This record gives sequence, C-alpha cells and structure tokens, in this order.
Amino acid sequence: MDKFAFLKKNQIALRQDQDELEDVCKYLASKSFNLLLEIGSFQGGSAIILSALLEPGSTIILIDPLLRGEKATEAFKWSCNWLEEQGFKVYPFIGMSHDLKIQKKIYSLIKDFHVGLLYIDGDHHTRNVLDDFHAFADTVETILFHDVIKNHQVNTAWHHIYKKRYKSRIFHNKFGTNWATGIGILESI
Ligand SMILES: C[S@@+](CC[C@H](N)C(=O)[O-])C[C@H]1O[C@@H](n2cnc3c(N)ncnc32)[C@H](O)[C@@H]1O
Repeated sequence: MDKFAFLKKNQIALRQDQDELEDVCKYLASKSFNLLLEIGSFQGGSAIILSALLEPGSTIILIDPLLRGEKATEAFKWSCNWLEEQGFKVYPFIGMSHDLKIQKKIYSLIKDFHVGLLYIDGDHHTRNVLDDFHAFADTVETILFHDVIKNHQVNTAWHHIYKKRYKSRIFHNKFGTNWATGIGILESI
C-alpha cells in the first residue's frame, strides 16, 4: 500500500496536495537524508510521507504545539509510534519552533548530522517563516517550504530569502486540491 493510502486507512490527516508532495519526493529520491526536521507536523502525515526519503535508522524531529484537540494529538502520537516502529529515532517537541529552549535541544540533537531535510510548515506569517529558516537552515542540506505560491505571507518570505548558495525550485499542481499551494525547495550547492 502506498503511504498516502496508508494515511487514509489509519485516519491520519495530511495537509498537502498529494501530487505536489509526490513530485517533491520523486525529485529528492536520489538523496540519502539521515535527518528530517519538520516544523508544523500536525498529525504527522507529512512526516510519514517524507520518511520514505530517509536512510534506515535516521532521526526525525517534529515540532508542533498540538493545539488542535485530543483527536489530532492522538493521531500525532500514533504517527510518532509508527515511525519508531519503522526503526527511526523520533523526537517530538510539543511547542513552538521559536522557543529558544526547544531550539537549543534540537541543535544538540542535530550537530552530528550532515544530510538533513527541513520542512517549514508551521506558523505561516512572513516574519516567522523567515525566523524558522534562519534558525535551522545552516543545520540541513535541503529545505522545503509549504504554501509558497498561494499563501501571500509565505510567498513574501520565499522572495526575501537570499538564495545564492542554493538551487531553488517550486513544485505546484495548478489544477490540484485546496492543499495545492506550492512547495518551494532550496538545495545547498
Ligand atoms: C498546516 S499545519 C501542518 C500540516 C502538516 N505538515 C501536514 O502536512 O499534515 C500547520 C501546523 O503548524 C503548527 N504550528 C503553528 N505555529 C508553529 C510553530 N511556531 N512551531 C511549530 N508548529 C507550529 C500548527 O499547530 C499546525 O499543526
């Protein structure tokens, strides 16, 4: 069963357009990431999809304040357990990405990793997207941003980022679902 069908079967919500995320995964498939850091994990759906890009035994760090009620929190815990059962080392942080205590703990976890993937899908205000980028960009190799086309504030953040040291591109399914909002990718060069 593919992972999108797996999420549906297990009632884990995914706030992504399937085609956009599939295209991103195909594009990144040749890379061997050993770390996934996701800001804004919600129920863990996107982390489960992106885990397909990770080497066995990789580290997965998820950050979310989990403010969407009991059902969503249970789903998030279920996803973390499932990822652990697949052999990943999972570190869930319940809180905000700009919390300095959380950032400090995350830096200590990721200091030895070299091929990391960061997914920024938390607070979508321009200032906060840029803060997330500046807090973690130097610790990873590839950065994904959700909503770079359809969310004006994320779009502004995307255009503010100085991209000279990156190869950049955007995947956008123009005829897709409500969640087809554009995923921007920055790869270190
Ligand atoms: C669009 S949802 C993420 C969807 C998820 N990536 C998926 O595809 O299913 C945005 C999430 O970001 C979380 N969030 C908002 N501000 C945040 C912050 N500063 N740090 C971490 N998570 C944040 C919200 O609680 C919410 O669950």
